[in-house]
Amino acid sequence: MKTYPLIRGLGYYVPERVLTNAELERTVETSDEWITSRTGIKERRVAAPGQATSDLSLEASKAALAAAGMAPEELTHLFLCTLTPDAYCPPAACILEEKLGVRGKAAMDLNAACSGFLFGLDMARAVICMTPAAKVLVCACDVLTSRTNWADRRTCVLFGDGAGAVVITSGEAEKRPGDAAIKDVRLLSDGSLGHLLTVKGGGSGSPMRLGDVVGDDFFVQMSGQEVFKHAVRNMVSVCEDVLAANGLTGADIDYFIPHQANWRIMEAVAKKLGLPIEKVCATVARYGNTSASSVAMGLAESFQTGKIKPGDKVLLSAFGGGFTWGAALLEF
Ligand code: ACO
Repeated sequence: MKTYPLIRGLGYYVPERVLTNAELERTVETSDEWITSRTGIKERRVAAPGQATSDLSLEASKAALAAAGMAPEELTHLFLCTLTPDAYCPPAACILEEKLGVRGKAAMDLNAACSGFLFGLDMARAVICMTPAAKVLVCACDVLTSRTNWADRRTCVLFGDGAGAVVITSGEAEKRPGDAAIKDVRLLSDGSLGHLLTVKGGGSGSPMRLGDVVGDDFFVQMSGQEVFKHAVRNMVSVCEDVLAANGLTGADIDYFIPHQANWRIMEAVAKKLGLPIEKVCATVARYGNTSASSVAMGLAESFQTGKIKPGDKVLLSAFGGGFTWGAALLEF
């Protein structure tokens, strides 16, 4: 019988600082009414000064390891999915390895923007396929507020910081209650549309010299309406592909965890897939768009709060800069 890699522990972490729409009303020309009606966001979390991606990732990873009943030493691989690493070098995954107090693992960063967690899941599946004894931590984390232009009302109301993590082992291990089989993952990208969502400044394509002042391009820049259209269309189509490939329809799905960018996008995707709104994970009101981590956080929180139950079929989908997008089918 075919076995599927297992998610054996889930964890997430958000920083303490809550930034409400009311506070943003005082700094940019916006309103709670505009933000809520256009995005569904009421508040978001912001990392403390000096609190980097590896710090948030450490908390989420410790929680996932504890849930899996595993010590960090047992891991063979650490993948940190992020577009906001602590630094260009060393990789944030290596900093996380050090903070977890272990050495000698295969640690690397993986950047697929907001789709990072799904790309991380598929890389973990590939590793486990080649090395069945592998134990892979997939952590997705972004501190996108570090690249947010707080004077730009079109973007600064959207993003928040957070981390989500899972521990994955081969399906040859016994499936325990709470474990989830990764039954399928589909990933796509389209570089021709990359210009619609960028964080360019300081990269090797837009290098900075000593003493340069950062410009607008140092921060997230987005053509919101264009991204919106592509996000809906592509998430629907990749979800339909995954469902069809597994002989399922929307009616077979118990819970849907889409990327938490905008409630209107999530609602539109769910409707096209024939999923009732009660089956849709919605953390966006409390956390905003936490980029790579949003699906991982939604998964961990939904499991911990009992919204996902043993036996449930859970569909994940993400969309982000690149463009990148994908879907995954889990069975708890
Ligand atoms: N407060 C008040 N007014 C605002 C604000 C604000 N915060 N932001 C923009 N406006 C104004 C605009 O200036 C514009 O005014 P104008 O008509 O006078 O020019 C008007 O509101 C409408 O702006 P739009 O951009 O057309 O607003 P829209 O309804 O498209 O909502 C939004 C914008 C929320 C960004 C939406 O387009 C969206 O969610 N896009 C998708 C984002 C997404 O999915 N990202 C996923 C990937 S993210 C990642 O990978 C990191």
